[in-house]
Amino acid sequence: MVRVGYDIGGTNIAAGILDERNVLICKKSMPFPRGRGTQAVIDVCTALYRALLTEAALSDAEVSGVGTAVPGSVDIENGVVIDAHNLDFHHTPLAGLLHESLQKPIAVINDADAAALAEHGVGALKGTETSVMITIGTGIGGGLILNGQLFRGGRGNGTEPGHMVLRNGGRLCTCGIHGCAEAYCAATRLAKDGASFGLCGAKEVIDAAKAGNPDASELFRAFVDDLGSYLASIVNLLDPERIAIGGGVCGAGSFLMEPLRANVKEKCFFETCPEIVVATAGNDAGIIGACLIAP
Ligand code: BGC
Repeated sequence: MVRVGYDIGGTNIAAGILDERNVLICKKSMPFPRGRGTQAVIDVCTALYRALLTEAALSDAEVSGVGTAVPGSVDIENGVVIDAHNLDFHHTPLAGLLHESLQKPIAVINDADAAALAEHGVGALKGTETSVMITIGTGIGGGLILNGQLFRGGRGNGTEPGHMVLRNGGRLCTCGIHGCAEAYCAATRLAKDGASFGLCGAKEVIDAAKAGNPDASELFRAFVDDLGSYLASIVNLLDPERIAIGGGVCGAGSFLMEPLRANVKEKCFFETCPEIVVATAGNDAGIIGACLIAP
């Protein structure tokens, strides 16, 4: 039997099939139908499901279940997305709607929790008992591995470390609260700040900083300082063995990782700092993690 997983993001819906050896045997993606309502999202997911089965030459009967990763808080037991601001999903009964369409058992998980599961199962967090996955993209996501298992929140809502408040009364976050880590440490922050210097997108800011542009260098320095404070707070809270960082900004390689490690070390309470590494499951982490929780 195989499992199907979705990673529903505000730009694209990615989907894939994981075989019994936990190998991703095929994947596809389609644009997220922004502004067209929940049923349009279910229709895209259904189309992806059919396309995947066709490509993998599998029948519907060979799929044991479906997992769905979403960028927001979830009621795991009932498969309801409580708040995913980037999707405009609020109290959306995603498992029920997908089940109606696919007639398969459905599980729902936060996207960063899915990435943490994937990294713990097959990637950079493999073998750890206490570790943290942080995804840096449009938002900041986080998944915690505690005692060798994904911690899904004390009340079953998952965890939302991207919304820990870094600045009192600071920048407005997409969640409506001011000063969240997400408003300072997501790639979106680099893009927004870079726009005032005519730079277009986080990658352009990073490339300009690499090339020695003074404005971009200052933006990048401030970003690393905020991200360092954020990670140091997580280290001081959990004393994890390892933190894995995922997302497009990791493409900056040692230009990001070296000053970041030094910054966290300065703010770390403990004598030694945990390892801070780049995630290895990459863009597929959300799909893989979603498949791993599929019934
Ligand atoms: C959401 C998280 C999500 C993260 C990354 C945040 O805005 O609140 O649930 O994991 O974005 O997508």
